Amino acid sequence: MKSLNKLAGIKNKTVILRADFNVPIIDDKIIDSFRIDATLPTIDYLLKKGANIIILAHLGDDGKKSLAPIAGYLNKKKYKGYFEKSDNPEIIRDSANRLCNGEILLVENIRRFAGEKENKKDFAVFLASLGIAFVNDAFAVSHRNHASVIGIPKLLPSYAGIQMEKEIKMLGKILKPKHPFLFILGGAKFETKLPLLKKYLNIADAVFVGGALANTLLKERGYEIGKSLNEDDIKGLKQLVKNPKLLLPMDVVVERGKTSLKKLNTVGIEEVEKKDTIIDVGTETLTRLIPLINSAKLIVFNGPIGKIEDGTKDLLKLLAKSKAEVIIGGGDTDEVINELKMRDKFTFVSTGGGATLEFLAHGTLPGIKALKLALGKA
Ligand code: 3PG
Repeated sequence: MKSLNKLAGIKNKTVILRADFNVPIIDDKIIDSFRIDATLPTIDYLLKKGANIIILAHLGDDGKKSLAPIAGYLNKKKYKGYFEKSDNPEIIRDSANRLCNGEILLVENIRRFAGEKENKKDFAVFLASLGIAFVNDAFAVSHRNHASVIGIPKLLPSYAGIQMEKEIKMLGKILKPKHPFLFILGGAKFETKLPLLKKYLNIADAVFVGGALANTLLKERGYEIGKSLNEDDIKGLKQLVKNPKLLLPMDVVVERGKTSLKKLNTVGIEEVEKKDTIIDVGTETLTRLIPLINSAKLIVFNGPIGKIEDGTKDLLKLLAKSKAEVIIGGGDTDEVINELKMRDKFTFVSTGGGATLEFLAHGTLPGIKALKLALGKA
């Protein structure tokens, strides 16, 4: 995979940049600009080398949302250029041809275009024809086999952006970890998390599981979980729950029967009743994690560990005090970190959600493989 500093001869030429600008937006207001800001060093680098840039990015899954608020954000940051709202290829080409003197063209939500999600060859050929080189700085979408992720690198000299390289370097530390290594996993969906859980029960010294994943595992260990969110028919859990490295909540916050959220109880895991719904980990569980957090050299956290955020917040506060290298998987956990304004308290917070989980499970992603196989110099 080629680094950005190998990309030469781009003065007055156009470089295509895949960015992940899939950020939370409410009423046209960007709630968390983390992912956009993470790509600014790559944009600045390309501009400093005299390039014009065409940025390809998505927002939401179905292409319906507009990137207009992101164009506004870039404008406020004093970047020069245009936002092309049209999805007509000829209009986009005209706008691309107009670029000069370090201007940026932000193309409307790339998922609006037929051929992006299906990675259609002719769409990738069209995109590639707009520039002389391709840079992928969108680690967070590099688990998708889309045209703007894996199609273009087959057609143009391609390079990893600065954030992409940082993600690979920092998350790569987890693949060859320092010990003691504590892995903390939350959220739901065994389908995506089971491979990860199996892998890290081998690699890590201890694995704590919270969130809906923990409910399923507690049930498998024979505990009552009442009406809590859990998954049936997951194969291979019988053996897994016997693993002594696997740590589960020992007390939990429950909604009892029809009580309102105001009447939450914290109960020991053996005291959960049929009418209960587990919605968070209890304080005793977190207290028991403290010695592990304090002795660890590496901690990886991909949450959240409850349906409500209190436990996740308390855990993040404990992790922020740890002397270990603390690496946080993005996605839902990132929103909590943003709210707590704690991003700089950790060794690394990944911009990826699903992409981070896939990278941790497989050690690579389709978008990274595509960069490795890409053409040579621009
Ligand atoms: C994300 O939000 O994780 C990335 O932008 C990828 O989005 P996607 O899950 O819609 O492909």
